[in-house]
Amino acid sequence: MVDLTRAESLIALTPDYPEPGVLFRDVSPLLADGDALREVVEALIAPFDGRFDIVAGIEARGFLLAGYAAALAGVGMLQIRKAGKLPRPAAAVSYALEYGTATIEAPGVLRPGERVLLLDDVLATGGTLTAAQRLVEDLGAVVAGSAVVLELTDLGGRTVAGDVHTVFTA
Ligand code: PRP
Ligand code: HPA
Repeated sequence: MVDLTRAESLIALTPDYPEPGVLFRDVSPLLADGDALREVVEALIAPFDGRFDIVAGIEARGFLLAGYAAALAGVGMLQIRKAGKLPRPAAAVSYALEYGTATIEAPGVLRPGERVLLLDDVLATGGTLTAAQRLVEDLGAVVAGSAVVLELTDLGGRTVAGDVHTVFTA
């Protein structure tokens, strides 16, 4: 069993970002450390070994995790992008933010029934991950699982996003 304590210590705390009163948890130092990144990505995908056909990364930090995970697992990667970035989006899902709404989109590259593992860095309110799960289903594929590096438990994301594998909680 790998000790992930050092990797966890590389998540930086930034008070009052992006607005006063918010304590932002920044995975940049963890992503920049080769050993920590490998250990965390291995822990992220371990429960799903052999149970997914493709890894989906949620823009933007989810891309970094999904690219690494896809290479480790020997599978491809699906981009889940913020609206307006893809030339031919095959599906779009809008969801509520604290103020306003957001939309995510994906290209039409999934086969029917393909098993998709969704990855992101942080689970906060759960809106983004829940929308990504719906997007995969709308594309005719299957959510094999959802995993994040860090769950912010106070924000209750798990209650909306369902069963999410988390490496760290705060
Ligand atoms: C952050 C994070 C998740 C999302 C979690 O992304 O990377 O994708 O918020 O929040 P939620 O659970 O409340 O939906 P952000 O929108 O900051 O995008 P970025 O990765 O492009 O910076
Ligand atoms: N870090 C990264 N993403 C986030 C956070 C955070 O603290 N809160 C909401 N999204």
